[in-house]
Amino acid sequence: MYKKEIYNLIEKALKDLGIEEVPNFTVSYPPNEKMGDYTTNAAMIAAKIWKKAPMEIADAIKSKVKSPRTTSLRGRQKSKVVEKIEVAPPGFINFYLKPEVVQKNLATILKQKDKFGSTWFDKTHHKSLTASGKAIKIGKGKTIVIDYSAPNIAKMMHVGHLRSTIIGQAIYNIYKFLGYKTIGDNHIGDWGTHFGKLIYAYKNFANKKDLKKNFAKEMNRLYVDFNVRAKEDEKLNDYARVETKKFQEGDKENIKIWKYFARESIKEFNRIYKMLGVKIDYALGESFYQKMLGEIISSAFKKGVASRSQGAIIIPLEKYNIPPLMIQKSDGATLYGTTDLATIKYRMKKWNPKKILYIVANEQAGHFTQVFKSAEILGFIAPKQAIHVKFGMVLGPDGKKFSTREGKVILLKDLFGEAISRARKIVQEKNPKLSDAEKRKISKVVGIGAIKYNDLSQNRFTDITFNWDKMLDFRGNSAPYLQYTYARIKSILRRAKVSAAIKFKQELLNDEKELVILRQLILFDEVVERAGEEFMPNIIAEYLYKLANNFNLFYELVPVLKAEKDLRQARLALISAVAITLKNGLKLLGIETLERM
Ligand code: ARG
Repeated sequence: MYKKEIYNLIEKALKDLGIEEVPNFTVSYPPNEKMGDYTTNAAMIAAKIWKKAPMEIADAIKSKVKSPRTTSLRGRQKSKVVEKIEVAPPGFINFYLKPEVVQKNLATILKQKDKFGSTWFDKTHHKSLTASGKAIKIGKGKTIVIDYSAPNIAKMMHVGHLRSTIIGQAIYNIYKFLGYKTIGDNHIGDWGTHFGKLIYAYKNFANKKDLKKNFAKEMNRLYVDFNVRAKEDEKLNDYARVETKKFQEGDKENIKIWKYFARESIKEFNRIYKMLGVKIDYALGESFYQKMLGEIISSAFKKGVASRSQGAIIIPLEKYNIPPLMIQKSDGATLYGTTDLATIKYRMKKWNPKKILYIVANEQAGHFTQVFKSAEILGFIAPKQAIHVKFGMVLGPDGKKFSTREGKVILLKDLFGEAISRARKIVQEKNPKLSDAEKRKISKVVGIGAIKYNDLSQNRFTDITFNWDKMLDFRGNSAPYLQYTYARIKSILRRAKVSAAIKFKQELLNDEKELVILRQLILFDEVVERAGEEFMPNIIAEYLYKLANNFNLFYELVPVLKAEKDLRQARLALISAVAITLKNGLKLLGIETLERM
């Protein structure tokens, strides 16, 4: 929570050294806590401007921070939080916070509880953030739209949608926590040419009984079946086109079938959301925008943005080195991208968001590049206002695509079922005495948590691996490990009968293992903020894993319940703060915690 303060100190030192135009330096975190709490590259950047050795500049900045020239009536403005500064090759400056500063934070955490981490609560050090000098949340007054999950009706929700749902929900939670007005919008795929195929298949070769039994699976079979048959008999594609056209022109029967598809699919999606504990504010699917497409196309023409090309209508983007976006096919049909343009326009008008995030797989990067650029030249959004938050594929332990197994598509339902039953086995082994209801509850929280954490703890850009043993390893970097650490602390606190208003002497916490934890707790708000800024929930996951490790190490080596009275109180306060932070962090990731496991 002192990043800004450190930044200001360096800025002031640079000015003291005669640099008026402060270069673009950053304040970040050293690779390990032995090297301090914050570090900066300011000296290396300034060295380039001054053409001097970085180490020399680093030393100069260091001495300026220690005794600044800037004075005020109240005396020299030396930092109240920095204890020690060290210069490290090739020119880093490392800052160590005073122990009393990190100790003081403990009371704040215990007071803020589930709000800890969400606010710039230190009024003195973050004055610049608020005119009145009062603490505010950084997202105050700003809106953000998050487009996530977005499965397609009459098709199965697959692992890609699962990733979108899990990552999207985490990003939603983070932004909400930071004080933003968050709008979650599930851009359901309920329009498009594939419905003609499905309607045709449904009318001609559906098995109504199977549809009743397992709608998603049978629809999937129908789609595959249609494509197989169409390979043999090309006329099928023409028939499908006729069905699409009839449907889009409002044919009663086809609309009825489509509505049936939608109803059944949404039931299925909701079952999945319920399992995941996910709730999305809006579900304005693609169909919602269809009536706006004519206007989008004609205004694109009027603005001179669109042009005709072989009977189709496109938005040429070669000026930007991007392939053209087709907004109308030669047969008059509109496309996925046309709908996305209308969606952007609608969202801007309705919510006036600062940003619109699209939590969608890497594969659609090209699509979004075209759509965002088109929306920009149409004047709907400013550059960088719409952001594609990409993610990679899910691979099995064998390194192959995880979405199918032995050629069969994996149903999300089955995936959850397997996670829960595997978790159940472990719970049974670890704690056979629990009641059945408790075991059931724990298995669900652990199983679902494991799936989510597996996704959120890995860098979303890369393809992630899906490995049951790793995901459910109670000792590894997994949800169960973090949940178990939380429950372990709660059980200690129960045994100690700690009350909410625990009294303690924070200055007693000066053992290395205690300070490491305290130093880490100081960073939580910045971790949350950074995870939001970079749309990277794995930053939070990494932090929580480290915190849990630090706690478990501490607890192994330092007595808590058996410590002498004052120390015991202080250590109990410390571990309470760890529990609060673990819980808050996991909650942001959409992962539940249990009081006992
Ligand atoms: N339904 C699409 C799919 O399954 C994802 C939609 C993403 N959102 C959007 N506005 N295009 O691939």
